[in-house]
Amino acid sequence: MTKPRLYSGMQPSADSLQVGNYIGALMQWRDLQEAYDAYFSVVDLHALTQPNDPAELREKTRRTAAQYIAAGIEPSKSTLYVQSHVPAHAQLAWVLSTITGFGEAGRMTQFKDKSARYGSDQTSVGLFTYPVLMAADILLYQADIVPVGDDQKQHVELTRDLAERFNGRFGEAFRVPVPMIQQDTARIYDLQNPTSKMSKSAESDAGVLWLLDDPTVSAKKIMRAVTDSDGTVRFDRQAKPGVSNLLVIYAALTGRQIPSIEDEYAGRGYGDFKKGLAEVVVEEFGPVRQRALELLDDPAELDRVLAANAARAEAVADKTLADVYDKVGL
Ligand code: ADP
Ligand code: NA
Repeated sequence: MTKPRLYSGMQPSADSLQVGNYIGALMQWRDLQEAYDAYFSVVDLHALTQPNDPAELREKTRRTAAQYIAAGIEPSKSTLYVQSHVPAHAQLAWVLSTITGFGEAGRMTQFKDKSARYGSDQTSVGLFTYPVLMAADILLYQADIVPVGDDQKQHVELTRDLAERFNGRFGEAFRVPVPMIQQDTARIYDLQNPTSKMSKSAESDAGVLWLLDDPTVSAKKIMRAVTDSDGTVRFDRQAKPGVSNLLVIYAALTGRQIPSIEDEYAGRGYGDFKKGLAEVVVEEFGPVRQRALELLDDPAELDRVLAANAARAEAVADKTLADVYDKVGL
């Protein structure tokens, strides 16, 4: 029996991924790769919609790929590749852009948010058509499911609309994918600002736990995490966002239930609790960091793995693209 297809990706927007990317995406990908025929992309074409230094972008792309592997995405089990290595992404995006309404694209809330932040001089047409490229990413692989954060749900809806529209107009070329929305419990917040999402593009990284940081740096950040004056280790997102966030990280990394962690630290202070979490983080990320650094130490081998995986991705993507070209008369 063939396994259902899965597609997901991340932008190479920093040298290191952060614990939210790990818990919210990579840990899930690692589990899902068993039951699905999974395609995991480092979406460097998408990253071009933000200002980038070319050498830095290339380095971030390699580092992101190394962290996928170090976190347990197996290049022999999943197809783990760099988006720009497969030209069909850009080619299909062009075809899809010709069946996307201008007004339809203009309704994307992420574009509205980002363009408001960038201002009209910094807002490119590429940022506007970003969701169309994302639709191409997904549809090329005939993905059944697409694990995404809440913020990407609208883009997957657009992807579904474009697939149905194309199939209706030109004949069946695409499977219509279903989003798999990340659970709320997998949402990690900034340690210094526990009501805003931890992000690799945060303005200050004082509250960001980096996968590739020296473990002693992560431990210090945990010890300095914002809590409250109540003094009890108890989950309450509204009243105790800082402590709740630490509990979520603790639970996710150990596979334990939150009440069992609350019990363990009942009657003890935040200092003990933070020390416990720091140990968990060091134990989990220590080996991941080690493995990522080893991979980055052997660029030829990493390139070989990425090239082999890109070839596998390309074989699937080119088949879809050839069918699409044929159907539209190219
Ligand atoms: P970032 O904000 O770090 O740049 P992206 O927006 O590139 O992250 O998201 C990459 C993946 O990581 C997505 O699947 C997203 O849902 C997940 N992710 C990012 N930040 C978090 C977080 N704080 N908590 C949980 N998941 C997250
Ligand atoms: Na981002």
